[in-house]
Amino acid sequence: MFLRTAIELSKLYSGKPIPEVIAALSSSYKNKIVFSTSFGQEDQVITDIIFRNTISVEVFTLDTGRLFNETYETFDKTIKRYKKEIKTFFPDKTTTEELLSKKGPFSFYNSVENRKECCYIRKVEPLQRALKGKKIWITGLRSSQSAQRENLPLFQWDETYQLIKYNPLSDWTLEQVVDYLKENNVPYNLLHDKGFVSIGCAPCTRAIQPGEDIRAGRWWWEDSKKECGLHETK
Ligand code: ADX
Ligand code: SF4
Repeated sequence: MFLRTAIELSKLYSGKPIPEVIAALSSSYKNKIVFSTSFGQEDQVITDIIFRNTISVEVFTLDTGRLFNETYETFDKTIKRYKKEIKTFFPDKTTTEELLSKKGPFSFYNSVENRKECCYIRKVEPLQRALKGKKIWITGLRSSQSAQRENLPLFQWDETYQLIKYNPLSDWTLEQVVDYLKENNVPYNLLHDKGFVSIGCAPCTRAIQPGEDIRAGRWWWEDSKKECGLHETK
């Protein structure tokens, strides 16, 4: 396998149609390319592209065990619609049992440290397993989602996971995402119709008011950077 740098990939693929780029990457990085979905609206666009074009890319999700029922409904509608597998990673049983036994079910409201501990157990460690041995990680990140994600490149080297991240929707607006889902009749999380934009775990996500930052509904009680450890490179 010939490995290119993120800069080379950006030069090679910027401006090209997303299905074409994912298909090309899937043949150069066979079995080493994955896409992570949280069933949010951006992810549903990419899932539709991968599944509808039958591109050989593993699609996985991190089921934290604390997701909204509406998110599980989207998961269900998606596998029924496309009849494809979504590989699911669950938090480690022993560590999760210990966390709940020692600190109860809502420790994350007590401190940023406790919140990061829960995110590590329920998201980051499972993500490490999902990305093990992979070379390309496709995400639904967009640069206009938050100040931290501003200037998000199409391809970037991820120091933490030692692979190249491909963000095909990096320069898409939310409106483009919503239009794509409508035009292609793609199933989506019904919480998006109730003021939820960025959706994570149920106890840590709430709807936002018009004009509020897209990620204002995530860990709303904190002043922190509002990242959970999945995406720390930017
Ligand atoms: S997070 O870091 O705050 O949780 P966000 O919800 O914005 O991330 O999602 C950004 C991208 O991270 C998604 O497009 C998806 O690729 C990945 N992601 C986030 N949460 C999950 C999840 N539970 N399972 C799989 N991928 C996820
Ligand atoms: Fe735990 Fe909340 Fe992080 Fe989900 S978002 S893993 S419930 S702290």
